[in-house]
Formats: sequence, C-alpha cells, structure tokens
Amino acid sequence: MTQLLIRHARILLPDGEFFLGDVLVRQGKIIEVASEISETNLNTIIDARGLTLLPGVIDPQVHFREPGLEHKEDLFTASCACARGGVTSFLEMPNTLPLTTTQAILDDKLDLAAQKCLVNYGFFIGATPDNFPDLLTANPTCGIKIFMGSAHGALLVSREQELEPIFAQGSRLIAVHAEDQARIIQRRQEFAGITDPAIHSQIQDETAALNATKLALKLSKKYQRRLHILHLSTGIEAEFLRQDKPSWVTAEVTPQHLLLNTDAYEKIGTLAQMNPPLRSPENNQILWQALLDGVIDFIATDHAPHTLEEKGKGYPNTPSGMPGVETSLPLMLTQAMTGKCTVAQVSHWMSTAPAKAYKIPNKGLIKSGYDADLILVDLDNYHPVLREELQTKCGWSPFEGWNLTGWPVITIVGGNVVYEQGKLNTEVRGKALQFEA
Ligand code: DOR
Repeated sequence: MTQLLIRHARILLPDGEFFLGDVLVRQGKIIEVASEISETNLNTIIDARGLTLLPGVIDPQVHFREPGLEHKEDLFTASCACARGGVTSFLEMPNTLPLTTTQAILDDKLDLAAQKCLVNYGFFIGATPDNFPDLLTANPTCGIKIFMGSAHGALLVSREQELEPIFAQGSRLIAVHAEDQARIIQRRQEFAGITDPAIHSQIQDETAALNATKLALKLSKKYQRRLHILHLSTGIEAEFLRQDKPSWVTAEVTPQHLLLNTDAYEKIGTLAQMNPPLRSPENNQILWQALLDGVIDFIATDHAPHTLEEKGKGYPNTPSGMPGVETSLPLMLTQAMTGKCTVAQVSHWMSTAPAKAYKIPNKGLIKSGYDADLILVDLDNYHPVLREELQTKCGWSPFEGWNLTGWPVITIVGGNVVYEQGKLNTEVRGKALQFEA
C-alpha cells in the first residue's frame, strides 16, 4: 500500500492556524495529521523542516489550448507549469478547437487530459446561442462558460434575449466573462488606427465591464441562478457587488489585476494585453480591498498563453492573454509576507474557496479524509521569476524578474510527488475532478 509521511512541517489547519507536525498519506488520501506520527510501513518520507504545508492550489480559470492550439500550450506542458506553481487542480475554459460545446467534445478533452495531465482537471462547457441541450446535460463539468464579450467565434452570447434562456433553464453554475461586446465594437471603431497597446484598456473600458456584470447579475437575480463572475477587473464592479451581491453569486480576481496596472504597457508592451484589460493603480487598490473584505471570493489566473511571435505582431493584431499558473502562488504569498494579507487568506482564496464554490468534494483543506493534494512552500527564501525556468510552452511571463518567496519546493498530487526542487515527475497523472450537484 502506498504510504507517504511528511514530517516536521508547518501545517496550515482548516481553522487558519499553523501547527508543527506530521501528515500521513495513504492511497492518495490524508489519513492523519498529528504532532508526531510513528509509522514504519512507508514508501516515502519527506523531511519538511522549515517548510510550510498548504493544500494544493485549485486554479478555477485557465486556457490550456488543447485541442487545436497546441503551438501555444498543451495539456502536458500546462500541467507541468501547474506542478511547478503548486496548482494541483485546474478548471479549463472551452475556447479550444473545436470549441468545447458538446458532450462528445468534452469527452475527448477528458480523454486527452487523462493521458497527459500531471495534475487534476475539470472542464467548462461553452455556451453558444444554440446549444441548450448540451448545456443542460453535459457531465462532468464545473459549469457553463459564457463569453458575454471578447468573443471566441461561436462562443459569444452577448445579447440579453440570448442570455436569458440560459439563465432561465437548469441549475448548474454559470461563469461569465463580463464585457459588453456592443460597446467594445463601437469603441474599436472610435480608436481605430492607434497602435499603442495602452489603448486596449480604453477600448475595453471600465464601463464595458460594468455593463456586462450588471446584466449578468440582473438575470441571475431574476432566476436565482448560481452565477460566478470571472476575473473582475474594475473597482466600480467591486463596489457595485459590495452593495448588491446575492448569496448565490461569487466573483474572482486575477493576480495580474491586483498587481499589474496600465503602467505595465510601458514596460512590457503587448505582453500586458489581456481581457478584461489591466486598469489603473486605483483599481488595484479597490480590488485588493474587495478581496480582503470577502466581496471577491477567490483568485484565478486566467492563464492564457500566446507565443512571443504572436505577441510581437503589434497592436491591435496581438492576441490578449498572459500565462499565470506558475507564478500565482508565489506572487500571492509574497504579498502575504509583506503584510498585505495572511498566508491563511492566500490559501483560502486559492484552495478552500474555489473547492467550495465549485463543489469539489474533499479538496482545498488539510484534513483527514481529504485528498492528498499538498504543497510544501519555502517562505524564507526569495527567487526571481526566470524565463529559462518556466515550464509553460509559451516561454514568457509578465512577472519576469520579480523576486518572489513562497515557491513550491514539493508538489504532491493524489499522494504522489509530482514536483520536487526543480524536477518534475512526468509519470504522475491527475484525475478528473468531480462536482457535486
Ligand atoms: O486575455 C484573455 N485571453 N482573456 C480571456 O478571457 C481569454 C484569453 C485567451 O483565451 O486567450
């Protein structure tokens, strides 16, 4: 029987307190958490002295490009990046080719993931104006993704009369990319000819985001439909939700919307281009406060890799998006070490809260009976984000050169060590996530 013992770790307990002790793992499950566990029949012993044990990160919004766009990323390279970044489970978006809009295409993606993914995986089904039957019955899926704006071909569902029937039928979670497509199209025309990428934040402006968030919230309230607002980018949306956020609505923010702003265009040009766009420094602050206050529920990276060649085409011919799974945890833990928040809060936002929101059983906490998706992080040393160490196929990060702490030293998926001190165990495979009704 596979048994793993982690000894002398600083363990984050479910109540947010730390505890110095041992964790015993058997057959992929946490069996015991205690100050000292004496066990002889072991396959692996990890001496975790000086390291902090956290539940593995669940990244609830990523774009991993397979099938169809493997020149940017694939499920193997993306999951290697996850393992290095401490992401033990991910929820992936439907803008792959073919678009994930039917059960058959979802099944194909699940098969690919079973073959190639080093970490656990779940997939959204994408809404089009005419795939209701699939949206109602697709299984297993973490939810329905609606692109209200920033279209990806047939995935665009932007008008109220097309959105309403999706909110009206069924009960599963709807996750929205909230940008007002009509406004974006109109502003693209107004600003046509401008090649400074900073214009991107003005074309897809704060009002475009707010309009769509308001519409999604209106429909969610009308049908009491479970709604999740993806990558909230503006202070005005956060303040709007602060006033009016029903108990069945959740929202997320990305590390880049917390830590980068429109100043980034000057430094990294189109590498800073994403949807919804980066905003002003004031927005960073309001989003932080909303996260600290619980108006925003959790963190997602929106990992959206594009090649440097594609990013070098010159605005507006450049694709939007930036990678994130490899840097999100150290970015947030570095913030914790500066006193902006606590390590327990980071773990809540990156593990416990997404597991709860997406009803993923037995994940997101270090507790006996829970899955042994665990990370040991080093909060004493700093190390920069280096291009040559990145596992993502796109090979760049908007955070290159940032000196971060909290890098995973060991990542464990289902009781197996998948990453240790710079080395990946590419034999490990994750499992398909389950989502409770
Ligand atoms: O910037 C983005 N790029 N935002 C998204 O929501 C999609 C993504 C992509 O797939 O490239």
